[in-house]
Amino acid sequence: MCGIFAYLNYLTPKSRHEVLDLLVNGLKRLEYRGYDSTGVAIDSPENKDIVMVKRCGKVKVLEDAINEGFSGKEYDAPVMTHVGIAHTRWATHGIPCETNSHPQRSDEGNSFVVVHNGIVTNYKDVKTFLEKRGYVFESDTDTEVIAKLVYHLWKKHPGYSFRELVEQVIQQLEGAFAIAIKSKHFPGECVASRRGSPLLVGIKTKTRLSTDHIPILYGKDDKSPQTCEKEHRPHGQTRELPVLPRIESASEFMPLEEKEVEYFFASDASAVIEHTNRVIYLEDDDVAAVRDGTLSIHRLKKCQDDPHAREITTLKMEIQQIMKGNYDYFMLKEIFEQPESVVNTMRGRVRFDSNTVVLGGIKEFIPEIKRCRRLMLIGCGTSYHSAVATRQLLEELTELPVMVELASDFLDRNTPIFRDDVCFFISQSGETADSLMALRYCKQRGALIVGITNTVGSSICRESHCGVHINAGPEIGVASTKAYTSQFISLVMFALVMSEDRLSLQQRRLEIIQALSKLPDQIREVLKLDKQVQELAKDLFHHKSLLIMGRGYNFATCLEGALKVKELTYMHSEGIMAGELKHGPLALIDDRMPVLMIVLRDPVYVKCINALQQVTSRKGCPIIVCEEGDEETKSFSSRSLEIPRTVDCLQGILTVIPMQLLSYHIAVLRGCDVDCPRNLAKSVTVE
Ligand code: M6R
Repeated sequence: MCGIFAYLNYLTPKSRHEVLDLLVNGLKRLEYRGYDSTGVAIDSPENKDIVMVKRCGKVKVLEDAINEGFSGKEYDAPVMTHVGIAHTRWATHGIPCETNSHPQRSDEGNSFVVVHNGIVTNYKDVKTFLEKRGYVFESDTDTEVIAKLVYHLWKKHPGYSFRELVEQVIQQLEGAFAIAIKSKHFPGECVASRRGSPLLVGIKTKTRLSTDHIPILYGKDDKSPQTCEKEHRPHGQTRELPVLPRIESASEFMPLEEKEVEYFFASDASAVIEHTNRVIYLEDDDVAAVRDGTLSIHRLKKCQDDPHAREITTLKMEIQQIMKGNYDYFMLKEIFEQPESVVNTMRGRVRFDSNTVVLGGIKEFIPEIKRCRRLMLIGCGTSYHSAVATRQLLEELTELPVMVELASDFLDRNTPIFRDDVCFFISQSGETADSLMALRYCKQRGALIVGITNTVGSSICRESHCGVHINAGPEIGVASTKAYTSQFISLVMFALVMSEDRLSLQQRRLEIIQALSKLPDQIREVLKLDKQVQELAKDLFHHKSLLIMGRGYNFATCLEGALKVKELTYMHSEGIMAGELKHGPLALIDDRMPVLMIVLRDPVYVKCINALQQVTSRKGCPIIVCEEGDEETKSFSSRSLEIPRTVDCLQGILTVIPMQLLSYHIAVLRGCDVDCPRNLAKSVTVE
């Protein structure tokens, strides 16, 4: 998904070269989100103009263009105050090309330049409105309307501040956005805002920050908006384009004023962490403006319960966590981090000495959850699979009906939701638009919302009533790996909490808690299969398809394994419920079809062996994933992977790791971009 990075230095001398390095580096940190083109805008050293460089393809291509185009002494001269904005674009409106890349500009003179994430759904209306006033559009993007509208309003209201202009503009926009804007008419100023797409402001000062929060300045909502002109709507309707109340700075609130300060506007924390760990997560409709080095946050009107200030959060993340280290790819690093990431998920929550589990983030809500009508687990992609993986255990330990839903389908169906439902939203990024929309849908209907996320400060985190942070650490590779195993464990811990006072379940709980304690070492054992998996990948990478079969606790591994293969290798792959084999998929089996089967010694073992026999008797030659030392199961095939034995409900954590490794190795052998697969984004903030 698109990425925004903007940098403002105030009374902190920086050459344009340094600024450009900073911007390019910021974009590199956002690369993992997925993108197809890039761009930057800085002040020109020759005059008061803004210069832009935009390129299709990777940040490296942009970097090379900058190195070629911006040589010369003037780029080495320090500038006391400067604003640079940068962007990675993931095409939604218009093909990936330089003209459609961001920054988008207001006019040929680059009066206002904008970087934008999200989709402006009413851009056609706004475009028509502007075209009727003589504006000529050069790109196919929705973003260009933002640049041109702010320019239009600036010409009409010359007395308005930059921030006021942006406030007027965002009132006209529908859909989702995060924006950062720079203008040659307001040098040294940057205005940013968000609605539906994440945006944070990093603050770096030489000395300790003078405050822990930034007061919010609210507009006066007692004035009815004046109208300025008619906006043209489709089908001949017109609507007034209102001039909204101007926000006056209330004297009792002092915005953040620091003498020497640097500000970073970014789509996520990984882009700012090497500069500062002090950030403010903007909320929907916040307008953050920096003028004369002073940051202020504005909202158009105050609603009941709105806070007076935005808190400055200290990030716990370390820069090393987002570096690749000795690994070739982030994905591989993240697969190999799982022995530690699962410990971090359980840390302070599972007490192995007393066999107890406490989830601080939902503790107070447990009595309410126990009284609920049903549990709904909602997510997309891998996050959805973690729900599939744990559903059976949740049903067993909570004795409640558990529904597992894909967020997009859930919304399409207008699924009935009741006040006594408890809805879990599982999302690594915490920003997935479908999940967020589903969350708001359930919240409006009075359900209790529980967020299971990996990103502190994310929208799902903030909009949930309570939640569990999975603590997997930053996941940079687009393919989700360690977040999956941590989501899985978080849901298992929840099941354990729900059953703590059920006498009949104590033995089962004990068995699971003890198995959790062994999990990190068992994951290390599974990771030792890497070389073996690489050899299997050599057999498979030239094939067109891979079927992954299993049932019971391991069905989720089949779905997740197939998703990993698809997204990383561009091969067809399907996760098949082994019980469904004879209802269709068996027709696919012959001696050439690659098949992988998960056959573990659990309650469905005999049924899995039946499926295995059905495959082998049709000349299928499956690769078998079985338990260590299970010679009988291994005898069905010449190729197998043995994994350590654990309790049935945790097997999925161990069986998914060979799938992660297999998809990784096939992708490398096929020459695919492992960390940024084509057409995909890390954080899918559009529906
Ligand atoms: O950030 P989320 O967990 O909400 O993302 C949901 C899916 O987009 C995500 O899991 C996707 O399926 C992964 N790329 C799979 O590896």
